[in-house]
Amino acid sequence: MATITEMNETVEMRIGKETYSLPVVTGTYNEKGIDISQLLSQTKHVTLDTGFKNTGSTMSSITFIDGAKGILQHRGYPIEQLADQATFTELMLLLLNGELPTQQELSTFEDNLKAHVGLKGGLKRLLDAMPENTHPMCMLSVMVNALPGFYRANLDSWSDEQVRWDSIYFILANLPVMTAYIYRHHHRLAYIDPDPSLGYVENFLYMMFGEVDEDVADALDALLVLHGDHEQNCSAATVRVAGSSHVNLFSAIGAGVNALWGPLHGGANQAVLEMLEAIREDGGDVERYINKAKDKDDPFRLMGFGHRVYKNYDPRARVIKKYVDRVLGKLGKEDPVVDIAKGLEKAALADDYFSSRKLFPNVDFYSGIIYRAMGIPVDMFTVMFALGRLPGWISQWAEMRTNNEPIGRPRQVYIGPATRDYVPIDQR
Ligand code: CMC
Repeated sequence: MATITEMNETVEMRIGKETYSLPVVTGTYNEKGIDISQLLSQTKHVTLDTGFKNTGSTMSSITFIDGAKGILQHRGYPIEQLADQATFTELMLLLLNGELPTQQELSTFEDNLKAHVGLKGGLKRLLDAMPENTHPMCMLSVMVNALPGFYRANLDSWSDEQVRWDSIYFILANLPVMTAYIYRHHHRLAYIDPDPSLGYVENFLYMMFGEVDEDVADALDALLVLHGDHEQNCSAATVRVAGSSHVNLFSAIGAGVNALWGPLHGGANQAVLEMLEAIREDGGDVERYINKAKDKDDPFRLMGFGHRVYKNYDPRARVIKKYVDRVLGKLGKEDPVVDIAKGLEKAALADDYFSSRKLFPNVDFYSGIIYRAMGIPVDMFTVMFALGRLPGWISQWAEMRTNNEPIGRPRQVYIGPATRDYVPIDQR
């Protein structure tokens, strides 16, 4: 049997008659982490933590979350302030460099992004070759994963600082291009070339719709800021683990795109809208769906509710909820699912099942309603999430490489059959 007791900045672990001393690391806000990096060699034991629910994989200085209090900060700045006051390109530099940029630094950065806009014709032909009804996240995955083939000079995207930044500028500059092209291919519309005179978000909207509404651009900028980074979530952890093999940046980001797609992660924004629509078509009986979500024999879950880290209202959801009425009002749009969403939230927050498990609306609960009001189709929502999350993925990758972290390689506890002899097929 093992017991753990904390002693100053070490903890003691007793296994059988042996006592081992494990160092404790302390974070900015006094969070404690037991450093078990020598555990296996010292004790012949590994830890077991399926889903990494209690396992810190790194010491990071990018994003801080206090899930119990509902706090999210990037490089120390509260998300509410960033969403209201920072632009998405400003956030990119904050995440990448650790400090808010000066006006000069921001202008140079934006010029560099513009200088990198443009995809080789072969990539467009690759997209053209895909059936129009392919899911947009599959199209994004194909395009991002094809980049190393088209931009071979970036295959080692770390050793040389100039190549590194070239890779970073390139993918940041062109993910909006890919997203717009995917949308247009999906809807059998002609591609619109980028307009270098426009800002990052405006240019994206222009390539999507051929016109730019400033109110939409402002709201989208804020939505992208809200998605910028979220510490060691499923896709960021995937980017870090894939990148820890020293694969190029594009391929590490491609791994993150695939991880994001699932409905338990970035795919939840699409799943929320589909759920709200299904409830509306079914007569709008919110209580029935609350009961389904609570029923352990029913696979239905309330999409957009619950979070691995937040055991309080997701601060991003709070900001997005503010934007729902603002954006719909400004665009003069009404959406019948808004009332269903608000009704679901009210019923869930008043229900003991959800409050006892600390299940609150997450970032995906209201974001889809805004995307749809902007004219972005439901199956593009997760691609929009990827667009917002890209600077976070790059920053997590860069931090992992800067720290020279070892290759990500978890252990396991093997519970399969013990050694046995091969039986020839005619004797089985
Ligand atoms: N509806 C109904 N019950 C739920 C829900 C939900 N949305 N989420 C969690 N629960 C229950 C779950 O059944 C379990 O109950 P019990 O203790 O009785 O077995 C308890 O709450 C704990 O849930 P868990 O699945 O063990 O928690 P987790 O940390 O493994 O999963 C989650 C977190 C986000 C995957 C989960 O809450 C979920 O599936 N939510 C719906 C999908 C969703 O909205 N995902 C977007 C996450 S935010 C965007 C992002 O960062 O990707």
